[in-house]
Amino acid sequence: MPTDDEYVIEIENLVKRFGDQTVLDGINLKIKPGETMVIMGGSGCGKSTLLRHMIGSLHPDEGRVKLFGHVLADLGEDELDDIRKKFGILFQSGALFQSLSVGDNVALILEEHTDLDAAIIDFMVKIKLELVDLREASHKFPAQISGGMKKRAGLARALALDPRILFYDEPSAGLDPVTSASIDRLIIDLTQKLGVASVVVTHEMDSAFTIADRMAMLNKGQVLMLDEREAFEKLRDWPHDRLDELDETKQLIRQFLRGDAEGPLTEESTGESSYAADLLGIDNSKLTGGRSIQTTRRVPNPGGPKGLFKKFRRSKQGSPEGQDKS
Ligand SMILES: Nc1ncnc2c1ncn2[C@@H]1O[C@H](COP(=O)(O)OP(=O)(O)OP(=O)(O)O)[C@@H](O)[C@H]1O
Ligand SMILES: [Mg+2]
Repeated sequence: MPTDDEYVIEIENLVKRFGDQTVLDGINLKIKPGETMVIMGGSGCGKSTLLRHMIGSLHPDEGRVKLFGHVLADLGEDELDDIRKKFGILFQSGALFQSLSVGDNVALILEEHTDLDAAIIDFMVKIKLELVDLREASHKFPAQISGGMKKRAGLARALALDPRILFYDEPSAGLDPVTSASIDRLIIDLTQKLGVASVVVTHEMDSAFTIADRMAMLNKGQVLMLDEREAFEKLRDWPHDRLDELDETKQLIRQFLRGDAEGPLTEESTGESSYAADLLGIDNSKLTGGRSIQTTRRVPNPGGPKGLFKKFRRSKQGSPEGQDKS
């Protein structure tokens, strides 16, 4: 186990309220260097709010958030700016400047935050774009590239200053399954090549299981389960005929992970104030038909990691398989 000094992020007893609503209710979470932590949970459970605390754009009402050993709320603007250079953020839209080419979007960050001369900046831009497989599109403008390419360009920008942590909020949102799989692979590649820690908020279970080293399941502003990916896989693949060995919370997490609308609790509850709906933070009506969580890349056999999962796990372990640039 890393000592406290070795965590890149430490969140201790974080409480955040908006008016009467307690959105984060005593979160404890530590992120190790180089690991990929996936944060999951139903819509509105506080994932993005948690991320905003990690980047210092919100401060806790109680508890504290430390990045690289510094309590963010105690830092002045200049110190916070220095810390901000050590992490990159991939926003949902890529957050590119429309009037600048892809290359200039990346160059701008380097011009603003470094004293490097133009030739070196050009060189750095090429390296960053190559990392996300977008060097050829350097002269294109955001309006001329696809959603997946925008995400890649946003990522190149997030990488501009060689961050030690990358934050992603729903990196696959709005992408088709193939493009979203390629973004997953990019996250894995970058983690391996650059050794950055990644914190990824996602609804997309296939993606979560592909990229995660550890996972945190949030519910109503609390961490319901925090563990290695394998522990979540075990729960997801837990046999149906042994469900009674799991407590109610575990059964529901299993249901969430599988994207099953019909879980044992859903079948038992007749609708009024369903614990399942309440716990998962989703509309009760969605539990009685259709899926609670939409996955776009279902595992063909829920009994074990097959297909895409297997391929990506192998690629994460460094096998040549899965290295194709899809
Ligand atoms: N600045 C704010 N002011 C007031 N309420 C807020 C603010 N930001 C978030 N909230 C509320 O906090 C709750 C959690 O929001 P958050 O965006 O963190 O959820 P989320 O888990 O990211 O959801 P989603 O999966 O839909 O993105 C929501 O009820 C939201 O309305
Ligand atoms: Mg969100």
